[in-house]
Amino acid sequence: MSLNEQQRLHQLRELLHHHAHLYYVLDAPEIPDAEYDRLFQELQALEAAHPEWVTPDSPTQRVGGRVLDGFESVRHRVPMLSIRTETDTGANGAEAFDARVRKELEVPESAPAVDYVAEPKFDGLAISLRYESGVLVLAATRGDGEWGEDVTQNIRTIGQVPLRLDGGARQVPPVLEVRGEVYMRRDDFEALNQRQRERIAAGARNEKTFVNPRNAAAGAVRQLDPAIAADRPLSFFAYGLGEITPADAGGPAFTTHLEVLEALRAWGLPVSDRVALCRGASELVAFHRRLGAERDALPFDIDGAVYKVNRLDWQRALGFVTREPRWAVAHKYPAQEQMTTVLGIDVQVGRTGKLTPVAKLAPVFVGGVTVTNATLHNEDEVLRKDVRVGDTVMVRRAGDVIPEVVSVVPPISATPGAPSAETGESTQPDLFAAPPRGPVFQMPTSCPVCGSAVVREPGEVDHRCTGGLFCPAQRKQALLHYAQRRAMDIEGLGDKLVDQLVEAQIVRGLPDLYRLGLNALASLDRMAEKSANNLLQALETSKHTTLPRFLFSLGIRHVGEATAKDLARHFGSLDRLMDATVDELLMVRDVGPVVADSIHTFFLQPHNREVVAQLRACGVHWEEGGAAADAPQRLAGLTLVLTGTLPTLSRDQAKALVEAAGGKVSGSVSKKTHCVVAGAEAGSKLDKARELGVPVIDEAALQAWLATGEPPAALAGVSP
Ligand code: IVH
Repeated sequence: MSLNEQQRLHQLRELLHHHAHLYYVLDAPEIPDAEYDRLFQELQALEAAHPEWVTPDSPTQRVGGRVLDGFESVRHRVPMLSIRTETDTGANGAEAFDARVRKELEVPESAPAVDYVAEPKFDGLAISLRYESGVLVLAATRGDGEWGEDVTQNIRTIGQVPLRLDGGARQVPPVLEVRGEVYMRRDDFEALNQRQRERIAAGARNEKTFVNPRNAAAGAVRQLDPAIAADRPLSFFAYGLGEITPADAGGPAFTTHLEVLEALRAWGLPVSDRVALCRGASELVAFHRRLGAERDALPFDIDGAVYKVNRLDWQRALGFVTREPRWAVAHKYPAQEQMTTVLGIDVQVGRTGKLTPVAKLAPVFVGGVTVTNATLHNEDEVLRKDVRVGDTVMVRRAGDVIPEVVSVVPPISATPGAPSAETGESTQPDLFAAPPRGPVFQMPTSCPVCGSAVVREPGEVDHRCTGGLFCPAQRKQALLHYAQRRAMDIEGLGDKLVDQLVEAQIVRGLPDLYRLGLNALASLDRMAEKSANNLLQALETSKHTTLPRFLFSLGIRHVGEATAKDLARHFGSLDRLMDATVDELLMVRDVGPVVADSIHTFFLQPHNREVVAQLRACGVHWEEGGAAADAPQRLAGLTLVLTGTLPTLSRDQAKALVEAAGGKVSGSVSKKTHCVVAGAEAGSKLDKARELGVPVIDEAALQAWLATGEPPAALAGVSP
């Protein structure tokens, strides 16, 4: 082995030790998983080439992390294994696995396809739940696979983990160890981080935001104070077994993995309904593709699919290599976190004048797309994370949440290097010296777009441009808001076109849109006559609208779609709304002092009234008197919560139906909730409903209710 290789080996071990400690013990990783995996694989490759250099304490020689002082160690009677990762994210991943399985099992070419169970690979942390006579007696982390930590106290706070199993038709074995994943839903994670940001803003020390749902979940599970753990909303999926009473001692006699999952479900444990039986490699490939397409829309993070041989006798025949079963594989998706470099920090101005610092990044492939911009939220966040030009940062993009910079990755030379044998000094080559960092970020004092003064109201985290519609940035955003599908729905009026129209000063305000002619449009760059005509047609069509849409499209601060609907229903006509006093506005459902004041102030401005008058003069019209009132108001006065994935309706569609029937859709379950409509993968909201005794129905029951006016049986006795 060359000296260079030897140095690199040392360095890799030190780095991996350092990052494993940050990750497993402190729950505060500094580098993305993908980077850790890369370093790990580099070390594995070096060790494979030089087995004589493998030491028992090398990071490659153990599975998980160290046991924290505060928790009791527990021995897993059946070890908690890790799983081989197939890094080829294409079809090959599934095909290579199937080929290996068939070869090992000596399945002839002519034999039918092997059955697999494909499951999402949940991105949380592995937990073993031990039930004795159906009662939860122990919950343990994986630890190093053999020894884990007793985290029973914290796991008990998870609503989805039954404290007692319900045998029902299916007898619960005397000893049952359930293996599964504790995770945090994305909405719960966003809400938790929002809460953490508020706590930090209010001066709380010792609080931090979390890098991703998995770290937040890991932090919660390993909290020494169960009250804090209970404050962090966790969820759970079961996916396998540990120790179980054997069949000859009265335990169940399973023959397939699918039966195991069905039994777990029957005993009251949450099992994902995205689990599927797949015949052969081609169905695994299709599963991988389907799940990948759904990934962004799922309520939780997944980092791949897991394939398992369905027949348990075949699983036993395949056995294990070191600590990995030969009967299962994890087939990854592109990572949702990556490292890249900050090229600059821009400040963008939004529709309401809010200034948002945005990191300009060296292009990086994250969560399936190439990202070049990532939000830094606000000044406090940039300063807290101390993000500067030239820094290497961790970027996260998951679901439909906009990409964000989660942290700065400290330069590699800041980690302890392997000391040289001769001198005892660090052997870090200069190659790893940190590049100079840019200056500390500062919010501009004048708007980067229009030069107007920038203010930060006391008690607010955001800075705002005071230019109003004088500011082209705000004007552009106001136009885009007006044109969006949920507002006036002007197809073809997108980003680029709005930029051109505003910059060429062809459009200064909303009414100018309806004064556009073919000549003006055709004079623009890249505008063919056909698209110009289409746009004019779309503008014409948009003139006939509804009052709620029109109200929403005006972009009044705090008036979202729901409030716009409430206002339209309450006042029935725009003129009545425009002349309403603050007290009258306060009579509208869900309108509080801040919203009432914002609406009142908006219509007090002569220029806003002028815009409305001009739009009407251009032909924009709607039916008054509350068109929504025509639909039977079967849900009048009721508050519903939608959760999980409904079988046929999208979230927006379900919401629209409920609202058209006079009901209200709320985002969270409370004692005031009249009913929860739950679909697949419903999580903490469903738990909350059960805890509070709120009736739960499915989509079919909702549809029947809307169609017939007859409330479902579950709602007997419920009234507004
Ligand atoms: S099965 C012997 N199924 O992935 C096979 N694991 O290294 C044991 N994981 O940390 C694992 N989703 O916590 C299995 N549907 C799933 C999983 C899953 C996530 C995690 C598991 C472990 C890692 C495997």
